[in-house]
Amino acid sequence: MSLSTSTPTSPGSPGSTGTSLPTVPDDLLSIGDLDGPTIRGILDLAIELKRDPAGHSTALAGRSVALIFEKPSLRTRASLEVGLHRLGAQSVVFDQRDSPLGERESVHDLGRNLERWFDAVAARVNRHAVITELADCCDVPVVNTLSDLHHPCQALADLLTLHERGIPLDQAHVAFIGDGNNVCHSLIEAVVATGGRITVIAPPRHGPSADVVSAGERLGAITGGRVEVTDDPEAVRGVDAIYTDAWVSMGETEDPDKLEELTRFRVDESLMNLAGPEAVFMHCLPAHRGEEVVDRVIDGPRSVVFDQAENRLHAQNAWFVARLA
Ligand code: CP
Ligand code: NVA
Repeated sequence: MSLSTSTPTSPGSPGSTGTSLPTVPDDLLSIGDLDGPTIRGILDLAIELKRDPAGHSTALAGRSVALIFEKPSLRTRASLEVGLHRLGAQSVVFDQRDSPLGERESVHDLGRNLERWFDAVAARVNRHAVITELADCCDVPVVNTLSDLHHPCQALADLLTLHERGIPLDQAHVAFIGDGNNVCHSLIEAVVATGGRITVIAPPRHGPSADVVSAGERLGAITGGRVEVTDDPEAVRGVDAIYTDAWVSMGETEDPDKLEELTRFRVDESLMNLAGPEAVFMHCLPAHRGEEVVDRVIDGPRSVVFDQAENRLHAQNAWFVARLA
């Protein structure tokens, strides 16, 4: 079943093995860079790449992508390195955990160097402003693989996972419960762009960015999507998916008051039961078992967390093929 409501907008190039490709913007810094039809086109391509990896093994032959990490990663690094290799591309990892971008040389000079060797740059950064600066000065596409504000690659994988579970994106109702963080922001943008409904359930002091929520409200008026914010965990009643993430994101200082406030937002079996028998459990991982989610939920039959992890590869590969093939 195709997710696209319209025909893909550009023909495939020879390197893409003839599959029609969606047209994507130069960079992927946030899901806000993509409209609903483009997201659906990327997801259709992801489904095709997942179905037939051998048929796309040379889609990016001869291409090189720089992978920069200012923060730790398992899923992002593995899915990018393995995924790009499957497309015939080379990737080179730059571990910058001990040397933040802009410290040894300016972000501008870094970007002007990288564009001479690489066809694209993917970066996980501490501050979102750094990736926008990199995109501004770098002539090749730049992909945000997590910043303090956004995690767009994760949200594409999340939509793909919902679709695979038979949840139509334009009818999906997702609850994000816990800390209104980077993953929450990208999920708001993704769900609303594709016409779904997202209920963010968070303590008032730790809700999502007001800018992201108001942009989501404006976009929803066009797409039919909806975003709402509450501090009532009972708002999970009837949702298709309950999504949570770490209460302390990478780079944040642990705050005992915040952890205390978040305790009543833990995902346990009674919360899943309140959502309903069909609701799935989602988490971008890494999970902090016993904190934001209990073992019996994340290890239970309704958990789709490892599908989400696998789908990182397919969703990212689709974006790279759409942009570079
Ligand atoms: N979900 C995610 O981005 O995982 P990593 O931090 O392990 O890359
Ligand atoms: N919100 C988490 C996501 C990790 C994938 C963080 O930024 O650490």
